[in-house]
Amino acid sequence: MRLLEKLKPSADLLESSGVSDPLIDAELLVLHASGLDRLSAYRDNPEIDRLQKAKINRLLKRRAKGEPLQYIIGHIDFLDLKIKVGKEVLIPRPETELLVQEAIKTVRGKELGGTSNNINASRLTSHALLNILDLCTGSGCIALAIAKELPDAKVYASDISATAIKYAKKNAVINKIKNVKFLKGSLFEPIRKPILFDLIISNPPYIRTSDISGLQREIKEWEPVGALDGGEDGLDFYRRIFSEAGSYLKKSGKIMVEVGFDQAKDVARVATGYGFRKIEIIKDYSGIERILKAGL
Ligand SMILES: C[S@@+](CC[C@H](N)C(=O)[O-])C[C@H]1O[C@@H](n2cnc3c(N)ncnc32)[C@H](O)[C@@H]1O
Repeated sequence: MRLLEKLKPSADLLESSGVSDPLIDAELLVLHASGLDRLSAYRDNPEIDRLQKAKINRLLKRRAKGEPLQYIIGHIDFLDLKIKVGKEVLIPRPETELLVQEAIKTVRGKELGGTSNNINASRLTSHALLNILDLCTGSGCIALAIAKELPDAKVYASDISATAIKYAKKNAVINKIKNVKFLKGSLFEPIRKPILFDLIISNPPYIRTSDISGLQREIKEWEPVGALDGGEDGLDFYRRIFSEAGSYLKKSGKIMVEVGFDQAKDVARVATGYGFRKIEIIKDYSGIERILKAGL
């Protein structure tokens, strides 16, 4: 049997198991098992032996049971980083890439007196004095993407999950990023030194507890519930973060958080209640209010 002949039966199997994009997933899994890139696979269409077939079948079986494609393949692209993921670590989402891009614009815009697109000025700017904190870092995707873009900044990142911190540290090595310190602990608790931050950023758990059972099986059965559950109204982490953030932020600093599709106004109320001002809400590419930015 040749490699490409395996595509149709693989897609059929995934479709009959309720996978929503069976053709795409089948192709990605067959390519992953073969170790070939798409171009070589379609150009050479090599013969596959019994062992290779068995390997493809093992991967298909995992996907048919609902395991997310990214856990099976083992990594995901996040901006220009390769982020290793696995069970017990949230798979980074595209909305979070936007959070990082907006954060970088904010940092540059502040330093350059408002011109975030001035490339020459941005090259001349040093970020050496910047302290940045990423709460609920998970795979480390936010902290690492910011640290790569601002190599002179000092980035700190915390997560309560030991597994998440292990992945985040591995991701720093894979992407050769050295200016992030990953700390295990709850929110601000591992920040023991008296540091004031220029930017606090977070994509915390924000799903309402009662909504979790209605999520896609790939999420509710495979991704860690501790990365999803934001309490009864989904806002627990925002209350905890905004109640403490003021004591960790420079007067000129900013806090930026990702929010659930219907939470921006409620999170704005939480932030205002803890003394934050200059609230800005940024929409994602689907027009959903997705990022909240605030200052003191
Ligand atoms: C929505 S995930 C975000 C992961 C990553 N920042 C991203 O955007 O893909 C939330 C993360 O919060 C972590 N978390 C849950 N409770 C926490 C706490 N009390 N303190 C710090 N991190 C916590 C979870 O382990 C999980 O990694």
